[in-house]
Parts: sequence; structure tokens; C-alpha cells
Amino acid sequence: MRILFFLASLGIVAAENGLDGWLRYASLSCTGQCRSKLPANIVVLNATETSPIYIAGSELQIGLKSIYGSHAEITWGKCKASSSVVVGTVEQYRETCGSLSGIPELEEDGFWLSTQGDKVRILGSNDRGALYGAFEYLSMLAQGNFSAVAYASNPSAPIRWVNQWDNMDGSIERGYGGPSIFFKDGAIVEDLSRVKQYGRLLASVRINAVVINNVNANATLLTPENLKGLGRIADVFRPYGVKIGISLNFASPETLGGLDTYDPLDTSVIDWWSSVTEQLYQNVPDMAGYLVKADSEGEPGPAVYNRTLSQGANLFAKALQPYGGIVMFRAFVYNQLNESNWDADRAKAAVDFFKPLDGEFEENVVVQIKFGPIDFQVREPTSPLFANLFNTSSAIELEVTQEYLGQQSHLVYLPPLWKTVLDFDLRVDHKPSLVRDIITGKRFNRKLGGSAAVVNVGTNTTWLGSHLSMSNLYGYGRLAWNAADDPEAILQDWIRLTFGLDPTVLKTLTQLSMESWPAYENYSGNLGIQTLTDILYTHYGPNPQSQDGNGWGQWTRADSTSIGMDRTVSNGTGYSGQYPDEIAAIYEDISTTPDDLLLWFHHVNYTHRLHSGKTIIQHFYDAHYSGAESAQSFLTQWESLKGKVDEERYNHIRHRLDYQTGHSIVWRDAINNFYHNLSGIPDTSKRVGHHPWRIEAENMNLDGYKVYTVSPFETASGSIAIVTASNDTVGTATTKVDFPSGTYDLAVNYYDLYGGKSHWELYLNNHQIGEWAGNSEDVLSHTPSIYLDGHSAMRIKFRGVMVQKGDVLKIVGKPDGVEPAPLDYVAFLPQGVVD
Ligand code: GCU
Repeated sequence: MRILFFLASLGIVAAENGLDGWLRYASLSCTGQCRSKLPANIVVLNATETSPIYIAGSELQIGLKSIYGSHAEITWGKCKASSSVVVGTVEQYRETCGSLSGIPELEEDGFWLSTQGDKVRILGSNDRGALYGAFEYLSMLAQGNFSAVAYASNPSAPIRWVNQWDNMDGSIERGYGGPSIFFKDGAIVEDLSRVKQYGRLLASVRINAVVINNVNANATLLTPENLKGLGRIADVFRPYGVKIGISLNFASPETLGGLDTYDPLDTSVIDWWSSVTEQLYQNVPDMAGYLVKADSEGEPGPAVYNRTLSQGANLFAKALQPYGGIVMFRAFVYNQLNESNWDADRAKAAVDFFKPLDGEFEENVVVQIKFGPIDFQVREPTSPLFANLFNTSSAIELEVTQEYLGQQSHLVYLPPLWKTVLDFDLRVDHKPSLVRDIITGKRFNRKLGGSAAVVNVGTNTTWLGSHLSMSNLYGYGRLAWNAADDPEAILQDWIRLTFGLDPTVLKTLTQLSMESWPAYENYSGNLGIQTLTDILYTHYGPNPQSQDGNGWGQWTRADSTSIGMDRTVSNGTGYSGQYPDEIAAIYEDISTTPDDLLLWFHHVNYTHRLHSGKTIIQHFYDAHYSGAESAQSFLTQWESLKGKVDEERYNHIRHRLDYQTGHSIVWRDAINNFYHNLSGIPDTSKRVGHHPWRIEAENMNLDGYKVYTVSPFETASGSIAIVTASNDTVGTATTKVDFPSGTYDLAVNYYDLYGGKSHWELYLNNHQIGEWAGNSEDVLSHTPSIYLDGHSAMRIKFRGVMVQKGDVLKIVGKPDGVEPAPLDYVAFLPQGVVD
């Protein structure tokens, strides 16, 4: 029996598939002094199985056993003086264990943690707080931290929510970690074990609610059968202190209820929503509330009936008031615009729509504001709406899911990006007005407020599609609790919990994670150009021209001489005037606008000089080269950890970082080629358009292959690739190698399309160097493409190949499905060269 238990507990740690996230409780050695600090008893002051305190007790027991092999006995509801960890609420402690002094007044969900050797007290202001405290103590134990502490920790805001954009059919909008853990085929899944594990992870970072369905909501969530299913989900989350909320479709009274209107002021509509709300609370008595996307991107809303957004929001707020629920009403409301109008600006929409309504929302409405005025781009200025609502509660909306930032196939550690907004001082009325103090309600004296992040975990065992992207979920929770925390310190806790205490692992992963957002910004879109991803298709790879020439309002206004949006009051859209005076003045003036937001606020010539002294165009070229170079170093940094990280995760992560090195080059070349072609201005360092180590596939001798002009042109080297002559012709491309004899890394750039798994073989003098399959749609996380473009373009490398001048290079491509074994070029890379 004992042996079995030992194996089972080892098993949890040994299967490093990511399921336990940062709650692995990996085994640490503990000798001498350390043993004396491990409590022998766990005193749980609440024996109700559905209580978070009960969960706290069992987590403590599992944690102590798993980390230090130490068995602690659980005692229910009775205090023990010696060697014990006591967990409960402050009130329960006073009732059961006697008086308590020195503990400050705790806020809702706050806790007190005191550790003195093997005497530990974890006391919550409520059950949830006690569980948070238990996870805090376990986090210390799992990091080998036995220091004596005594402190209170309180949330900075009551709303610490996550949003899931899960659809009823089980797909997830902008999800990269597999299908939904909640829904399948229009109903709620039977097996909710992943929901339970999600609740555990969320509770450990103090998230207190999950909105479980897509903001582009489907009314069928409200059928009687699904309401019961919601009740089951809520029951599973409840012991973790996590409530559920749901997204609503504004038109439900008509589409589901059979009414002939969904006018928010119509009594039949009001009655319909009250009845739905009542039924919801019958199934989920502690439901957190509603999330509403209305009049946005084709979603129905009050505008259809000439009603205001506040009238729309208040409809739900009033329905929720008897139950204490909250409406999170999204500020992401904008209309299609005409680019030929110089004044048109989507960035202005939120303030234009919401500022006039300030004060007209019910007290239980919270306006949920994306961090920037457009849409989760790699760099945006802080949304000015935060500085324009004084009588309305607000929350910040972030994206843990990396929709525009590499979709989990690229490593991008996001908290440093979020901090640029959370720490931004909007100087309302010339007084300190940090965004983090506005959303907590502190600055404008609002009771409600906080954060929401779109997370989109799926059934993949890594949750998000990649192990390293879990640092973003962890970081989000930590910042939602305390936005003043330091992203690097948060990261380091996550690293120790996820990968153990090896100082080299800590140092290396810290470095590459902290470099990852700047690198991504550099090789994708910089100087505040917002995004250069393909906004009309997958939001993933490069396609700069997709920004312009359409009504989406994410324009770059790039032409052959100039680029950027003029958002000044004096000559542009007037957006800068939406900020309080001190901030508006900074952005209005090109000389005080920071370089990294220059193109957000100003339209300038490519030859305009930045504060750095570089021209815009040269900055583009240089940044793309340096960003891609950093990405190359991520792989080498990671490889230096071989043997220090379990093989399962080592290989999984290595594969992604290897992909990122290649895709960063796709990005670099596409953006540089695009602007080089548009501006006609050469790169002073002569890199752009010069690829001395490449052999273009179209220049090889082709048999069964034909040339193919790629669109967008900049996503192929020389604009041209090759594809097999038909979907069942095997293609061969051969050429003589004209480079000096030596050792090279061979990089092959090809396209991996959705809808086929081609197979390629690479030979030198008929000796096979390597082979690979176009199966990235199964092994990477981003949205695949059915075209040859910047999403499907990728690179594979074969290292350390001995090459003689005059060798014959041959690639054989076997098409599959719709994928015609496409090839772009082969690069022969001498040591240290990235071409
Ligand atoms: C982005 C995203 C959509 C999403 C929308 C939203 O535009 O691409 O998928 O529906 O934001 O936040 O509502």
C-alpha cells in the first residue's frame, strides 16, 4: 500500500505534461533544520467538504507529502498547540482556538499568514482567503523558503476574473490549447475533471470568477438543459472559491425567447431577462454575473432600437441586482470607418461612446476596457477611457491568450507589456492617476473594479498550448491581486515552481522570458505601428498591407514616402486630445512623443529621425534584425539547460523555440522586404534584400516542381517559391553548391499548410541529411493557414553538415492533400551567420 502511494505520488511529478501547471509540488530534499519546520498536523477549521477551507487542508496535506515526503495528520475543527498548520477564517480561529492579536483588519478574500518554525497559521477573512493563504504557504514550501513571516495580504480589487471565449460546439475563439473544457456539441461536457483542475490553478493565483463562454455569445447557453449544466460547472468550481459568469447575446429574447423585439426598454424584454436571471440563480445561486459585448463587430445591441449603451447595460444590471451579480459591460465598441477620411479613428471610439454616458450606469455595472484603444496589440498607448470615467466603475481587459502575439507558438512573456499600462500615470486633474489605481476604484472612489483576462485554456495538457505561456496566466493572477508587483519577481516564482530551484535554470529562463516581448516587438511591428499581423485572416504571421484599404480602422497609412497615423488635435484625428492635458501635450508634440509610440501618434516620412538618431526606416530594418537575433538566442539559451529540465518538457519547449527562431526570420524578412519595396530606401547595413548564403528554390533544377508567385509577395524570399506540379506529383529540386567547403547549418524554408502533410527529404550527393513532415498543425499551437503566406512559412535546420564545394543538393518533396510540398529556399549558414 505504502509503495503504491509512493509510486502514485512520484507519478504526479514524473509525468511532466503540464497538467499541474505551477502546482507540481515537485520533490525537494529536506534534512536537519528543515525537517523541524514541517508541521506534523494540519488543523482545518471547517469540515464542510465543499468549502475552500476543506480544499486548503487537502492541498496542504498533498503538498507536504509530495514536496518533502512528510505526512501530516488532518484534524477537523480542533486546535492543536504543537507542530501544526492551522487553516480557517479569522472568525473560526477566534471561536475554536481563542484570542488573536496583531492581525490587521483583512479585506474580502484577504488572508493572514504567519510561519514560525513548524507553527503556521493561515487565516482568511473568508473561506476563499484561507485557501489563498494555503496556496501562498505551499508556494513558499515548494520554493524551499522556510523563513519566518507574519503578514496580511489583501487584494487590490474585488474583480479578478478570467474570460474564456469558448463556443457551444467546443471550439474556442482565439484559443490555441485545444478544444473547450466546458462545451461540446452544443452542451456542457459530462466529465468536468479538467474544470476542477482549472479551478485549482485559478484559485492558487487568486482568481475569483470565470466567464465560461465566448463574448460573441450564443443564446442556446440559456436552454433549460444547459442551465443545469452551468449548475454542475459552478458546483465543481465552488470549492476553489471560483464563481462563474456567462456572456450574453443581446438578441436572446428574440432568437431564443421568441419575442418580436429585444429592445432593452420593452417590458416583455425586461421580464424575459428577469426570468432567465432567476432561473440562472436557481441553478447557480452564487453566479458572479454577466459579460456583455453589444453593438460591436456585428453583435446585436441597444443601438438597433436607438437606445444607449448604458440603457443596454442597465437592463442586465437591474435583473442581477436582487442576487448581487455584476455586469461586465465591454467598452470594445466601434464602427467600420472610411480610410480616405483623415479624421477617422477607431482608437477614439471607446471614449466617444462611453464618456457621455459616465454616471448613467447602475452601480453594479463595470465597464471592461481593453488595455489599449485598439485590440491587444504588441504596443499600444493606455486606453484614454480610463481617464474619462469618474462615476462609473471600470476594469482592465488583458489577453493571456497570445492572439496577435505569436499564438503560443512564440514565447512572449506578457506582464512587462501589461505593466506599461498598469503603471501608466494618466495625470487626471494634474494628480497622480495610475491605471492600476483607477481600476481598483481607489483613484475615483469606486467600490467595484479590477481586471479580466481572456485566457482560453483548452483540453491540451499544457492548458494554453505551450508550457512557457503558463507564465502569463500565473503573472496575470498575481497582477490582478496586486498590480504593483514586479513582473520579473513574479516570473521567478513561476520558474521555481514550474522547473525547480536550479539557479542556472532560473537565470536562463528569466533572461529569455524577459527578452521575449521586446524581441517580438522588434521582429514584428515597432514604433507603435500597432500590429503588422494579418488582421483579415489569422492574426498571426506578417501581412502589413492587410492593415490598410479596409474599414477596420487599424491603419498604418503607409505609402511610398511616409507612415503612421496622425492622431494629433492640431492636424490629425484628435485622439491625443482624449487624454488629460499633461498627457495630451506629450503625445501632441512629436518631439516629446516616445519613439516606441511615434507612429501611433504621428504620420512621418521614413527619413524622419527618432530620438535615438536613427531614421524610421533604418530603425525598422535594425529592429527586425536585432529582434530575430534575440529569438535565435532563445534556442541556444534553452539548449544550455539540457539535462537540467525533464526531457518531456525540454523537448516540447525546444521544438517551439526552434520554430520561433525560424519564424522570427520569416517576420524579419517580410517586414523589411515590404517597407524596402514601398520606400525604395536601402538598408545602410546592406542586409535587406541581400542574402549571400541562400539558394532560391526557383533557381534550382526542377523536376515535378513548378515556380509559384507567393502572395503577399514579401513572405517568400524573392517573392517566389516552388510547389509540386500536381497534388500527386513528387517534386525534385537539385543544384550544385557553390559555397566554399566547410561545416554549415543547413536551413530550409518551406510552407506548412493546413490540409495536408507533405514530406520532404534533403540530400547532399545522394546522402540523406534529413527528412521532415508538414505536420505543424498538429504540433504547434497557432492558427494554420491554407495558403503559402507568412503564417505557413517556416524553417527547419540541420546542423553541422560537412559540405564540399560542388556537392549536389537535392530536395525531394512529396505532396499530400492540398499541400504541394512548397519550398522557398535553402540557406547554408556558416557558424554564427543568420541569413
Ligand atoms: C478581437 C478578436 C475577436 C474578438 C474581439 C473581442 O477582435 O479578434 O475574436 O471577438 O476582439 O474582443 O470581442
